[in-house]
Amino acid sequence: MWQVLVTDEMRLGEIKNPEVRLDYRPNMPREEILRVIGKYDAIITRSRTQVDSELLEAGTRLKVVGRGGVGVDNVDLEAASRRGVLVVNVPEANTRSAAELAWALLLAVARGLVESDQKIREGKWDRKYLGLELDRKTLGIVGLGRIGGQVARFAKAFDMRVLAYDPYIPRTRAETLGVELLDDLADMLRQSNFLTVHTPLTEETRGMIGRRELYLLPKGAVVVNAARGGIIDEKALLEVLEEGHLFGAGLDVFAEEPPGAEHPLVQHRKVTHTAHLGANTVEAQDRVGEAVLERVIETLRGNLAHAL
Ligand code: MLT
Repeated sequence: MWQVLVTDEMRLGEIKNPEVRLDYRPNMPREEILRVIGKYDAIITRSRTQVDSELLEAGTRLKVVGRGGVGVDNVDLEAASRRGVLVVNVPEANTRSAAELAWALLLAVARGLVESDQKIREGKWDRKYLGLELDRKTLGIVGLGRIGGQVARFAKAFDMRVLAYDPYIPRTRAETLGVELLDDLADMLRQSNFLTVHTPLTEETRGMIGRRELYLLPKGAVVVNAARGGIIDEKALLEVLEEGHLFGAGLDVFAEEPPGAEHPLVQHRKVTHTAHLGANTVEAQDRVGEAVLERVIETLRGNLAHAL
C-alpha cells in the first residue's frame, strides 16, 4: 500500500482506493514534514509547502510529488529529477476559477467596491466615487495560456479590445480567441487601459513588469496580478501608485506570502486584495483534489504520461 502525505488544504473526497493510505495533514509544520517525509511514497501539496532539495532529500522513499494546481514554482524540479522523483500537476482543473478571480479583482478595482463597502460599514453613504467603464477599453494580457485565454474570452462579454503578449503560443491560438497578439511587450503596454498577467513565475518573468513597464501604461490604467507574486515588481508598483499614474491594482498574490499587515501594498487604499484565492472555489477544488490524487496514483503505478 502506498503512503501519501497531503500537506496543504485540499478537498480530496472519500478515498476508496485500497492501494493508497492518505495522511491528510494540511497544517503540518515544515520541521514535522521533514521529520516524517521518509515514510511516504508521495506528497501532495498546493503552494504552501516548499518542496525543495532539503525536503526531497529527507524523502528517501519519495517517488511522486503531486501539485494540486498549475504552478510548480514551489517545487525544485531539478532536485526532484536528480533524485528520480516524478512531479505531476493538474493545470486544467482550476483555470476557470483563476480567470474568474482575475475578473473579480479587475471589476472591484474599476468600481471601487472595497472602498465603497468600507465606507458603508462606517455609516458613510458616499456617492461621489467615480469608477471606470470597460466598454471599448483595451485589456492587455501577458501570457495567453489556459488562464489568460479564459480571461480573454470573458473580456469579449464587456466589448473590450483584447491584446496579448506571449512569445510561446502560436498565432492561431490568439486568432481563435479573437485576440491581437503583439510581439513587443512595450507596444502592448502603451495601449492597455487594463493589464493582467497570467504567466508562471520563472527567471524570465520575475519582475518583468517593473517601473518602466508600468509607466508605459496609459495614465489611469488598472493592473491585476492573480498569477504569481513577483511578476509585477512590488516596489515599482507601490511607487507608481503613489505617483498617481495608476487608477488602482488588484492583487491575489505576493512575492512573499502571507505579506503581513505592515506591507505597504496591503495598506494602500488603491489596492484590492485577495489571499491567493484564485483556485479557491468549491468546484475547482473538487476537480483539483480528484485529479491530483488520480494522477499521483497513476504515476505510482508506473504510468508516466503526466510527469513533468
Ligand atoms: C495554482 O498554481 O494552481 C494555484 O496557486 C494553486 C493554489 O491555490 O495553491
